[in-house]
Amino acid sequence: MKKSIEEIAKTEAEYWNENKLERTKIKKLRRHAFHYSYKREANILDKIVETFAGKELLEIGSHSWMAWIKNKVVPAKITCINISEVELDKGAINAKDLPFEIDFHLMDANNLTFPDASFDIVYGGAILHHLDIEKSVNHIHRVLKPGGYILFTEPLNINPIYKIYRKLNPKERTPDEHALVSKDFKLIRKKFTFDHYFFDFFSVIFGFIALKVYGDKNYGNWINKFGYNLDVFFSKIPLLHFLFARVIIYGKKK
Ligand SMILES: C[S@@+](CC[C@H](N)C(=O)[O-])C[C@H]1O[C@@H](n2cnc3c(N)ncnc32)[C@H](O)[C@@H]1O
Repeated sequence: MKKSIEEIAKTEAEYWNENKLERTKIKKLRRHAFHYSYKREANILDKIVETFAGKELLEIGSHSWMAWIKNKVVPAKITCINISEVELDKGAINAKDLPFEIDFHLMDANNLTFPDASFDIVYGGAILHHLDIEKSVNHIHRVLKPGGYILFTEPLNINPIYKIYRKLNPKERTPDEHALVSKDFKLIRKKFTFDHYFFDFFSVIFGFIALKVYGDKNYGNWINKFGYNLDVFFSKIPLLHFLFARVIIYGKKK
């Protein structure tokens, strides 16, 4: 029987509160495969985040603000929500001495309880794919002011190679998460216009080879650089976007 949104949220909270994911194997591969693409991602995010100065922000699935915003820009305020107390606490502990207001709420992102038009920007790292896309996108749209923006980084599950990998390694993910597929983009497009930036196809293949050659060290090697350069080139071809593993979505409320 299909799980309800509330049951899924309860499982999510349990997984993050009890740290149930097993990611040791994938962490080693990520250190090679994403070595260069994390820098490209950070450059793109930094430019967008500059526009967050003086704005009212809502982060769902907090605590990406620690990497994206801290020491880079001073927003008017960040409101952080998460379904997991432990995840929320990690952010709260790190929020000491910030030069802006930041507060934390235990809340389900599928059912935001903020009034309409509360925020200038809603953003999050690797969160939409833990949610009911239609419900959460409707809420995000509702709590944004007219002309408000969204910014998300998300994994993709369109390439058959990633689909197989995910099936073979279920313990790396929460049971109900669903990396984004084409129909999710259609749902987002109903409410937002957006640009996207694609990452990580060849860099994963070449990262896998580099891990075999170098072991868990020397991530800045030529094999990873070569895979990364192929990605930068091929990510410019829209027909090939289905190959990639991750995406940045930067959009504006319709
Ligand atoms: C992959 S983690 C990303 C955490 C953080 N944004 C980051 O970039 O490190 C997914 C996060 O989504 C949170 N989450 C899952 N379901 C949620 C829901 N329904 N409402 C709010 N947060 C949720 C989890 O507790 C977890 O913190």
